Amino acid sequence: MEKIRVYGEQKVNGKVHISGAKNAALPLLAAAILSEEGLTLKNVPPLSDISTMIALLETLGVECTVSSVGDYSETVTCKTDSIDNFTAPYTIVKKMRASILVLGPLLARFGHCSVSLPGGCAIGVRPIDLHLKGLMAMGAEVDLKDGYVQAKAQKGLKGTEFEFPISTVTGTENLLMAAVMADGETVLKNAAREPEIVDLANCLKKMGARIEGEGTSEIRVVGVPRLRHAEHSVLVDRIEAGTYAVAAAITKGQVDLIGGNFRKLLPTFIEKMEECSLIFEDIPNGLQAKYAGEIRPIDFQTEPFPGFPTDLQAQTMALLCLAGGKSVIDEKIWENRFMHVAELARMGANISVSGSQATVCGVDHLVGAPVMATDLRASFSLVLAGLAAKGNTLVDRVYHLNRGYCCAEKKLADCGVRVDRIK
Ligand code: EPU
Repeated sequence: MEKIRVYGEQKVNGKVHISGAKNAALPLLAAAILSEEGLTLKNVPPLSDISTMIALLETLGVECTVSSVGDYSETVTCKTDSIDNFTAPYTIVKKMRASILVLGPLLARFGHCSVSLPGGCAIGVRPIDLHLKGLMAMGAEVDLKDGYVQAKAQKGLKGTEFEFPISTVTGTENLLMAAVMADGETVLKNAAREPEIVDLANCLKKMGARIEGEGTSEIRVVGVPRLRHAEHSVLVDRIEAGTYAVAAAITKGQVDLIGGNFRKLLPTFIEKMEECSLIFEDIPNGLQAKYAGEIRPIDFQTEPFPGFPTDLQAQTMALLCLAGGKSVIDEKIWENRFMHVAELARMGANISVSGSQATVCGVDHLVGAPVMATDLRASFSLVLAGLAAKGNTLVDRVYHLNRGYCCAEKKLADCGVRVDRIK
């Protein structure tokens, strides 16, 4: 199994080109199913989760062509007039829960499908009840049989009003994709507002969908009979950008984050990082993050957009391990997203967890150690801790990192620090 060796006491100083967002590219790939004319996606990040989604589309009969554009980006062309299988099998879905995103598009275009239930994962139980309730409100018949969601809408989906009791990102995306070809108007209330949903809506509009209100908590969709081919460039990855900003803070360095409007994409994270340890300056096509001279303790809670993203919680915790005082982190999205705490403790961190709250008491320094990645974001938090630690750190279970961080060692090298991948 691959490992990453992180050499300690390094300083980030350089420029990193931020890739397209995994969590935007996954629903966009699923959206290809909606049109028989196919979809071309640019700025797709080369990641194992993207390969998993492409494998799923190919199982359904989509012909995908992938071509590299430099090291950090791919163009994926999906030919979708030959879809002849309507089952998303457990063998693929169990690898990646976002596979559930094919449910809405398959049902919208073909009126029936069968998608394996994803099950839980390291960060939480991850139910999909709201995806199913929303589809049922649109007239779908849904059965759970042999571990599969079997969904039918023989007379097509009907526009409806559906209010999400809690904010769900992929739930909103699934219902949005289901609604674009439903009969009549759909109103999604308490919809998630993440920028990746706005990106999906923008692409669907290029395909001919009629959508208003994306990015607000009320999305209105008027169904159209069919969608056409479109070409779309995937939104930049705000979580990757935030992760490299933390790398600058924890190593007392600086980094130019290139490729997007990160102030708009990470408003609360930037505010908190300013309070903690970074100075931000606008630069052409990006943002510079520079160590401000000390790491101050901060309190924050993770929340849906525009709040502090849960996908940056683990990385920020690594930073706060070295703050001059006590920080409190409240994880409000996932019930089990503190698995990295035990690994950071192996490096000398002082963290205690009680329910959804982690109290991090800053220590003078961390010490390199063999550690284990427990989920995607946790994996990079250990790399960050390792860059600042005294001595070397060996991060095991690197396959978690490959799911969501494109060419991590190359990008870290671009900003002046060395990590080695060990086969
Ligand atoms: N929830 C339900 N019922 C549902 C759906 C969600 O109870 O039907 C609950 C979840 O259990 C959770 C909360 O609602 O407690 C929010 O979950 P959400 O559905 O928003 O999460 P998701 O759509 O499964 C996406 C990202 C995650 C990110 C979360 C929160 C993708 C592919 N995944 O997951 O990304 O943490 O939103 O922002 O977009 C990651 O990239 O590392 C990652 C885990």
